Amino acid sequence: MNAPTAPLAPWHVTSLNPVEAPWPLLLSADPSREKVRGYLPGSTCFAARYRQAPRPGKLGDILGICVLVPLPGQSGTPRPWELMNIAVASHLHSHGIGGALLQHAIAWTREQKAPRLEVGTGSFGDQLVFYQRAGFRVTGIERDFFLKHYTTQLWEREVQHKDMLRLTLML
Ligand SMILES: CC(C)(COP(=O)(O)OP(=O)(O)OC[C@H]1O[C@@H](n2cnc3c(N)ncnc32)[C@H](O)[C@@H]1OP(=O)(O)O)[C@@H](O)C(=O)NCCC(=O)NCCS
Repeated sequence: MNAPTAPLAPWHVTSLNPVEAPWPLLLSADPSREKVRGYLPGSTCFAARYRQAPRPGKLGDILGICVLVPLPGQSGTPRPWELMNIAVASHLHSHGIGGALLQHAIAWTREQKAPRLEVGTGSFGDQLVFYQRAGFRVTGIERDFFLKHYTTQLWEREVQHKDMLRLTLML
């Protein structure tokens, strides 16, 4: 039987200035600092934060973040968006924080009248369940993406990530 987890202090999802996004969280979802530096400045970010005073520790009052960027679209119509990064502090996984951030990102892109929200992720692992629970469907595969575009090898459960799946949620 799992030990009962302590209830979390109250938190909510708010806008986040991209320059304030904590690097440990960004890198836990995307280990390429170079890639993150490329998409972060033009992004729209949200954070799950404690409602009360900042907690001690390197993340302050932040429990998790998500980073969205607009994709090229047809002129005169709202652009699709891509979820570039989503991460929750590792000791707080499975409390619904990532799901709340994802739902916030979906609601926000809907408000922008975007036709769809996309995300690129590994071809196996827990993240696939996470996105598919929210309604994302597989719409493409880029073979060898993680071999070509990352200088560090990405391993999960002793399997190396090689191919990237593109998932799409039609809005
Ligand atoms: C993916 C992530 C943001 C989910 O956040 P979360 O707060 O744990 O999400 P929720 O509590 O709403 O949902 C948990 C579900 O997400 C899935 N999941 C995805 N990644 C997971 C992980 N590393 N550990 C545990 N569950 C994970 C599981 O299906 C889990 O379901 P369960 O709790 O019934 O087992 C979080 O696991 C994370 O920060 N991972 C590291 C960064 C990352 O991989 N980002 C995604 C890049 S594509």
